Amino acid sequence: MQPSRAGFARFPITLQGELLWPVMESAHYFSTSPAGPFTRKPLTVELAGETRRLQTSTGIFSPDGIDKGTAVLLAEVPAPHPTGNLLDIGCGWGPIALTMALLAPGSKVYAVDVNERCVTLTNENAASLGLSNVVASTPQEVDPDLRFDTIWSNPPIRIGKDELHALLKLWLPRLAEGGTAWLVVQKNLGSDSLQRWLAAELDSSFSVTRESTSKSFRILKVTKASRSQQ
Ligand SMILES: C[S@@+](CC[C@H](N)C(=O)[O-])C[C@H]1O[C@@H](n2cnc3c(N)ncnc32)[C@H](O)[C@@H]1O
Repeated sequence: MQPSRAGFARFPITLQGELLWPVMESAHYFSTSPAGPFTRKPLTVELAGETRRLQTSTGIFSPDGIDKGTAVLLAEVPAPHPTGNLLDIGCGWGPIALTMALLAPGSKVYAVDVNERCVTLTNENAASLGLSNVVASTPQEVDPDLRFDTIWSNPPIRIGKDELHALLKLWLPRLAEGGTAWLVVQKNLGSDSLQRWLAAELDSSFSVTRESTSKSFRILKVTKASRSQQ
């Protein structure tokens, strides 16, 4: 198979039943500085039960709407902690972080992404919704001493297993005591092995459970025990 000049596969091939070329094309969504101009375009979606007019662009994950996995997460998980610090790991244009901020106006929502375009779009989309409780940034800009009461994430599975594990090891131990993280992972992208890895890797103050399965996605729940339970 010859790569095209843009670096994408010319012909789709299959790997474990998945077409490979869309994977390679979408690999650019987690570049820190995506190729091509950063041209904003309008995006109308429903978030937290209302129609929202936002901005998106090329060079990011799911630029034209709410990803199926993200939609499952938003439909399945309970409301986030009403106050305190909340976190969206890998925010894209912001569907998860914005929903958390709309549902929990008394909280502060941290949204992190390595893709600078995502950081800009999430901050701009929060401002356009009048949300002053969202701070999007690159991961290294977040104070490492912060602890999070709720984490929601559609994590970047396609960055590779080692990178994904490093990412989850960086953020999940920052759950506050009594805090909960909800992750959506496609079944055929290793949700069950990820659940086993999390259970083995996190210390005994964490519990890891599979909460539900919907439309080929699993929702994994990671809970950090409160001090009285430890
Ligand atoms: C599956 S997408 C989800 C995006 C968005 N939350 C949504 O639901 O549409 C995962 C996101 O993680 C970002 N990402 C990749 N590696 C990352 C890392 N090391 N730290 C933070 N974000 C990362 C990608 O750029 C991408 O925007």
